[in-house]
Amino acid sequence: MRTIALGLDVGTSGARVLAVDDSGAVIAETTQSHPLLTPQPGWTEQNPSDWWQASCQALQEMMSKLSEHTVVGIGMAGQMHGMTPLDAHGEVVRPAMLWNDQRTGDAVTSIDQAVGRSTLIERGGNPAITGFQLPKLVWLRDSEPDAFAKTRHVLFPKDYITYKLTGEMIAEPADASGSNCFHLASKRWDAEVLGAVGVDTSLFPEVLASHDVAGKVTADAAAASGLPEGLPVIAGAGDNASAAFGLGLSKDNLSLGSLSLGTSGVIFAPLETATPDPDGRVHLFCHADGGYNLLGVTLAAAGSFQWYRDTFYPERSFDDLTQLAQTSQPGAGGVTFKPYLAGERTPHMNPDLRGSWTGLSLATTQADVVRAVLEGVAYSLRDTLDVIRPLANVTELLTTGGGSTSDFWLQIVSDVLETPLKQPQFNQGVAYGAALLAFWGSGQPVVSNAQTTTHQFLPASNSAYAKALARYQALN
Ligand code: XUL
Repeated sequence: MRTIALGLDVGTSGARVLAVDDSGAVIAETTQSHPLLTPQPGWTEQNPSDWWQASCQALQEMMSKLSEHTVVGIGMAGQMHGMTPLDAHGEVVRPAMLWNDQRTGDAVTSIDQAVGRSTLIERGGNPAITGFQLPKLVWLRDSEPDAFAKTRHVLFPKDYITYKLTGEMIAEPADASGSNCFHLASKRWDAEVLGAVGVDTSLFPEVLASHDVAGKVTADAAAASGLPEGLPVIAGAGDNASAAFGLGLSKDNLSLGSLSLGTSGVIFAPLETATPDPDGRVHLFCHADGGYNLLGVTLAAAGSFQWYRDTFYPERSFDDLTQLAQTSQPGAGGVTFKPYLAGERTPHMNPDLRGSWTGLSLATTQADVVRAVLEGVAYSLRDTLDVIRPLANVTELLTTGGGSTSDFWLQIVSDVLETPLKQPQFNQGVAYGAALLAFWGSGQPVVSNAQTTTHQFLPASNSAYAKALARYQALN
C-alpha cells in the first residue's frame, strides 16, 4: 500500500485533482470544467454549485483510479479573491464574483477614502483593488441590498468547497491576504479597516494556517465525492501560493522565486516579513509556508502572444511565429509593443490601460512586429522585477506556464530581466502544492520533485535590449 495525498485546485476554468505519493511523484490526475458567467461587460461570476459539481466529478474519477493506496488527506487550493456570499443556513445567496471582475470601481474609491490608501498598504500590503474580496462586498451592500441583508458569511472559492466537504467555514492566510481587509502582521481580519468601511467582522470565518486541518469529510460529502468519510481536509492556499509551495519556494531560500509565463505573467518572490511596496505597485500576500510573498502580475503575457496569433495568423503555430521572430534582431527593429491588452496590474494597477505598437516604419517587417510582442512582455516583466528587487532577495527564477516551453522567449526574458531562469523537470502546478500541504498537515514528510531542473538560461548583456527597454519605459 502506497501513501498518497490529494490536492484539489478549484480554478477558473475547472476543478483539477492530483494524487501525489510520498516520494513527490504525481500518480494520477483528473480535471472537470465548470462554466464562467459574464452577465454584463466587466462582470465575471460562477455558480458555487458548478464548482461543487465539477469537484465531485473530478474526485469521483480520481477515487476510481486509486486502489492500492492509503490517502492521508486532501489539500485545497484555488482561484483567489472570489466572494461567495452565504446566508444564515449556509446557502449561496447569489453567484460568486471572481478575481477578474471589474465592476467595483466605486467601491474601491469609497474604501480608499474611508481607510486611506497608505493605511491599506501598510496594514494589508495592497491598495484597494477591483478584483479583491472587500470591494465586492461593499458593491453588494450598495448595489444589491436585499442580497447583502441575507448574507451572514463570505468565503473564498476553495473555502466554499472545504465547507461543502466538512461543514466547517474557514479561511487561510494566502487567500485572506487578497481581501483588502486582512492585517498581515497579525494574520487576523482587520477590525480597524472593516470598522472604517462599516462592514461587520463576523461575516468572515476563522483563519487557520495553510497546513492546518480544516475538518473531516462528512458522510454526505463522502457520498457525493467518493472520498472516504472522515478524511482530513487541509486548509491549503490561494493558487499562486500553492503553486509556489509545490515548487519549493519558501522563506528558507529567499534567493529563489518563480516566473509563470502563462496567460498572465506572474513573478513570485518569497519574503520572511511583510514588506509592502509603499506605492502599492506590487501585491504583498501571505505565503503557504507561514512567510510572505510579493506577487507581480503582467495581465497579458502568453495571452498577448495568443491574441496576436489568433487575431493575425490563426493558421500558424506558435513555433512557426517564434521562428519568424528569430529572424528579427534584439530591439525588434525599433518597434515597441505594450502588452496592456487587459489593462495592467504591476506596476500600474490600472484596468483601463490599453496595448500598443509604436515605432513602426516602412522598414518594419512581420518578424519585427511579432518579436516586439515577445520583447514587450519581457519589458513588462522587467518593470515588475524592478519594483520587487529592492524589497526581496530574489536572484533566480523557476519558470512555469505555457510560454516557458519556448527556449527563445525564455532567453529574451532572461536577458531583459538580467536574471538566470531555470526550467523545472516537472511542472505540476497549483494542485501539486495543495497535495504537499496535505502531507504537511497530516504530519508526513513533504517531498517535492519540482526543484530538479533540466535547463538553465543565463542572462547575456545586450545593449540593444537596454536601449529598447529605455524606449519602452519612456512611453509610460
Ligand atoms: C492573483 C490573481 C490570480 C487568480 C487566478 O492575484 O488574481 O492569480 O488567483 O486564479
